[in-house]
Amino acid sequence: AHQWRGVIAEYADRLPAHVQERVVTLGEGGTPLVPAPVLSQRTGADVYLKVEGMNPTGSFKDRGMTTAMSAAAGRGAKAVVCASTGNTSASAAAYATRAGMVCAVLVPDGKIAMGKLSQAIAHGARLLQVDGNFDACLVAARKLAEAYPVELVNSVNPDRIQGQKTAAFEVVDALGDAPDVHVLPVGNAGNITAYWRGYREYAGLDAGESLPAVATRTPAMWGFQAAGAAPIVAGYPIDEPETIATAIRIGNPASWQQAEEARDTSGGVIAAVTDQQILAAHRVLSAEEGVFVEPASAAGVAGLLARAEAGQVPAGARIVVTVTGHGLKDPQWALRTADGDEVVPVRVTADVVSIADALGLG
Ligand code: F0G
Repeated sequence: AHQWRGVIAEYADRLPAHVQERVVTLGEGGTPLVPAPVLSQRTGADVYLKVEGMNPTGSFKDRGMTTAMSAAAGRGAKAVVCASTGNTSASAAAYATRAGMVCAVLVPDGKIAMGKLSQAIAHGARLLQVDGNFDACLVAARKLAEAYPVELVNSVNPDRIQGQKTAAFEVVDALGDAPDVHVLPVGNAGNITAYWRGYREYAGLDAGESLPAVATRTPAMWGFQAAGAAPIVAGYPIDEPETIATAIRIGNPASWQQAEEARDTSGGVIAAVTDQQILAAHRVLSAEEGVFVEPASAAGVAGLLARAEAGQVPAGARIVVTVTGHGLKDPQWALRTADGDEVVPVRVTADVVSIADALGLG
């Protein structure tokens, strides 16, 4: 039986040598590509979900953290730092523990989901809640890494992108070729940059030129930001980004230019979706597809549904949507109805008649 060995071992021929000297892994990657019959029916396309919540710490960040942490370990680093809306800190904390390193994380005060906060604390990170948003945290983390002996493991670290590009490889390996469209949420814009690089390399372009091409084409990249935190759509940084999707509450993405390049060279789009659209998509995923994600992860699905309603989804197109993080990261959103009312479980006594009655079986 084949045991998945983590993205560095699985894609060794397509990753740089310096991440392979001292591999730090928790078995990340190899996530399921799940057909989405309800979304397919609603959009008239052939839709799949790349379920990144199945990674070891519950988000796609683990793909980039194995490479960034391995490179840091190879250089003999003792400490790492990251700014985070939550998932990066959870992942960095876990992989730093694995590597025997100290991990400092800077998070926006009061704006990160409880599940992610718990992970960083459980893994022993030096957690600092900063009086400022993610963008301020990232500026501070970069300065700290420049002036002190700590390595930055945010996606501005090129080793992060190397690991995250493997998600595109997995999609092509599963489908036999690149899809027509790849959809994903956009925050700091590292992931759209990474997918685009992965698809290009697998099509024999750029760094993939010296290896056999696995795909015959590259997809159109469709990225979606939350409407209150949509700087790329607006064309200028947002000073006070706001959205219930805290993972993508970012006003000045570090990989802004690379995201625009991915959009333009792939023939794609970057658009905005409202919090209401995000929560509606979150509900479709959990209640109709059986896939529980955190709100930010539903932004891609929200964007796809909005474009389908506007007649902008090509009929029969093969579409992959990355759902980036697990629903258990930020479960509170499931406990509200579409109208925002709290869901209260029905209480019954422990006898079969009242249970059958409550279930409407009587
Ligand atoms: N979805 C989730 C669940 C995320 O945590 C993030 C980013 C994104 C989407 C956006 O990806 O930044 O590469 O465009 N989270 C970062 C963090 C910022 O700190 O965990 P991106």
